[in-house]
Amino acid sequence: MSTKGGGKTGSAKKTPRLLPGLAVKDGFMRHPFDLEFGVRTSGLIAGRNLKCGRRADRHNTAYFGVAPSVFREMIVRWRRSKPAAPIDQFTFVDLGAGMGRALLLAAEFPFRAVLGVELNPTLARIGRRNMALWRAAGRARSPIHMICRDAAEFQLPPGPCVVFLFNPFGAPVLRRILTAWARSLAGREGQIDILYVNNEQQRELEREPGLIRLFAGEVRRSRADAIADHRILANQPDGEYAVTNWEDCSIHRWVGKSTRFSA
Ligand SMILES: C[S@@+](CC[C@H](N)C(=O)[O-])C[C@H]1O[C@@H](n2cnc3c(N)ncnc32)[C@H](O)[C@@H]1O
Repeated sequence: MSTKGGGKTGSAKKTPRLLPGLAVKDGFMRHPFDLEFGVRTSGLIAGRNLKCGRRADRHNTAYFGVAPSVFREMIVRWRRSKPAAPIDQFTFVDLGAGMGRALLLAAEFPFRAVLGVELNPTLARIGRRNMALWRAAGRARSPIHMICRDAAEFQLPPGPCVVFLFNPFGAPVLRRILTAWARSLAGREGQIDILYVNNEQQRELEREPGLIRLFAGEVRRSRADAIADHRILANQPDGEYAVTNWEDCSIHRWVGKSTRFSA
């Protein structure tokens, strides 16, 4: 078969190759959250498959969307912790936002703004598409944005912030963030709280004198989320990642007075 003009098939669009972990042959399964809302946040992508030529690549843990039930429970716990300002004065910041599942869930609350920071450009692009769908469906109660950047190079916006972490990176990146905060946040107005889900690097937060811990414990997945995540993880080809019915979580508040970096 030939094409008109007989030359190259220049106009034929190539389907972009899916990131490893997002193809059915890699065990990909859609999470009920995506089936219900018509968005695309499912999949498990190992950190080694998310490399994009950045310094922080080797500390990338993986992509996996947060269980909606765990996310919502963390917001409930945070709101009980007596934040110093009403929720509509807080900017929600997801460091390691992936395809934006936590951002979509956060935008259901009346935050001042919802902001995602994602290292991998393909995930950030998918996340932006999800946000457009969320807005079009009238589900976004706050403005949502996605920035493609290393979280360690991102400066928090002015005013109160809730920083969300779903085990996005290893200790070196978290330490770079805390170092930058300790240097830059002195005298800053507005509370900064951290919600940390699957808090593998919690020790780094405990060691930071500028932070106090408000909560640490297990937050259970709903039955539906537990079933979905167990199924998805059982389907991964190399069985690299494990899942439990709960996530180890913690909530921290920046109170300053860091002496760790004073010269
Ligand atoms: C476990 S996923 C969490 C996704 C999302 N927060 C959620 O809860 O649905 C972690 C994400 O962090 C991203 N990430 C890892 N290191 C990063 C860095 N240094 N800066 C920004 N994003 C990073 C990964 O690419 C991945 O998408």
